[in-house]
Amino acid sequence: MTLYAFPEGFRWGTATASYQIEGAVAEDGRTPSIWDIFSHTPGKVAGGDTGDVAADHYHRYREDVALMADLGLTGYRLSASWSRVMPNGHGPVNPLGVDFYSRLVDELLAHGIEPLITLYHWDLPAELQDDGGWTNRATAERFAEYTAALTRALGDRVTSWVTVNEPWCAAFLGYGSGVHAPGITDEAASLSAAHHLNLAHGLAAQAIRAEVGPAATVGIALNLNAVRPRTQSPADLDAARRIDAVSNRIFLDPLFVGAYPLDLLADTEQVTDWSFVQAGDLDSVKGSLDVLGINYYKPAVVAGYDGDGPREDFDGHGSGVGTPWPACSGVQFPRVAGPYTSMGWDVDATGLAELVGRVHRDYPPIPILVTENGAAYDDVVDQDGSVHDPERQEYLCGHLVALHGAIAAGVDVRGYYLWSLLDNFEWSYGYAKTFGIVHVDFSTQKRTLKDSAVWYRGVVAANGPDTEDATAP
Ligand code: FCB
Repeated sequence: MTLYAFPEGFRWGTATASYQIEGAVAEDGRTPSIWDIFSHTPGKVAGGDTGDVAADHYHRYREDVALMADLGLTGYRLSASWSRVMPNGHGPVNPLGVDFYSRLVDELLAHGIEPLITLYHWDLPAELQDDGGWTNRATAERFAEYTAALTRALGDRVTSWVTVNEPWCAAFLGYGSGVHAPGITDEAASLSAAHHLNLAHGLAAQAIRAEVGPAATVGIALNLNAVRPRTQSPADLDAARRIDAVSNRIFLDPLFVGAYPLDLLADTEQVTDWSFVQAGDLDSVKGSLDVLGINYYKPAVVAGYDGDGPREDFDGHGSGVGTPWPACSGVQFPRVAGPYTSMGWDVDATGLAELVGRVHRDYPPIPILVTENGAAYDDVVDQDGSVHDPERQEYLCGHLVALHGAIAAGVDVRGYYLWSLLDNFEWSYGYAKTFGIVHVDFSTQKRTLKDSAVWYRGVVAANGPDTEDATAP
């Protein structure tokens, strides 16, 4: 039996997001977000599912915090709904909305669980989308105002903040392929959205520091890609470089270098002249982080495409009408060997170690948090109500062992937030894909610990997994 012991003080948590779990979409002054509109648009979400009720966390948050306490967790990454805190995205704060997060924070702290609050997990107030959403730079300014309001209200108790979750998805799935809200398919719009999300992060970082003071820990959660060229051919290497530019360096370089990569600007010059970038925009972005959050699920194998034969499109981002990869018609995503999760995503823990190692190697020193990692499988509830999910447990254990290896090799990783605490509304897949370590019966809202939750409780207690728990890679 080998114990992969993590550093002392390592934070063990779970992650969720407001629209995916809260429900109560019309309560206490909350106004619609783009995901309310999108999910209520026929054909956009599998099964016609919506987040109207979701896991009803808005009413059951005490029970959910008790579950986390029972698992011994020391951290919880939640997201706040902008539309609850500042209805319609601008103007006065809604005291009832702020009060919900205040009560949730108090409940967490009373159980010794440190809250890490994400300010934007994709639920843009719908009224702001009417003015262009993330293609409009004013949205970044509104975001800083909302950030200031919420950090002012909670900053006495919450010091750790994540500005934006996965700006790549918000920009390129929301405005490029259109599989996510607001469902726009426009390559130029997706690049302008990406820039305004970077700007929003920078302005919000300033607001957090102004409100919370020197104790503030500012982060962002990026779904970086572990990009792997299929072969070392020039075409495959160039495909990998392009995907790296438009999914990794488009966010990392503004944060750490203060500029967009020159190859990205050249790759996309037919799509946009980037005139939405104004002088000084990246000044607030560069050096804005105290910690870098990385969300990891699977690696990305890429290859060149010369137009010959059908283009392979196994990138795991759903089939949109548009493309999430601007100026990448010469790139394809070959199908790779499994095993796969129920999302059809390949299981490969080495990508996690590769990613954190790459940030460590290529950018200035920065503490890292794994802000999401987990797996969807088709869970079966047994007659006695138990849920045996050995594949999820094996996925999680393999990724923790890989992460442990990266830490042993010198990468500064401070915490791990498992996605997700609860089964929830999985965006365009609705309730069909379940990532929770806690099963939710959506007809009764009954919560049941899956075997993986019981296993994770042991990991947290021991500060690391045992190889006896599951097969190590
Ligand atoms: C990430 C999202 C999160 C969840 C997981 C499975 O891209 O941040 O909300 O949907 O994927």
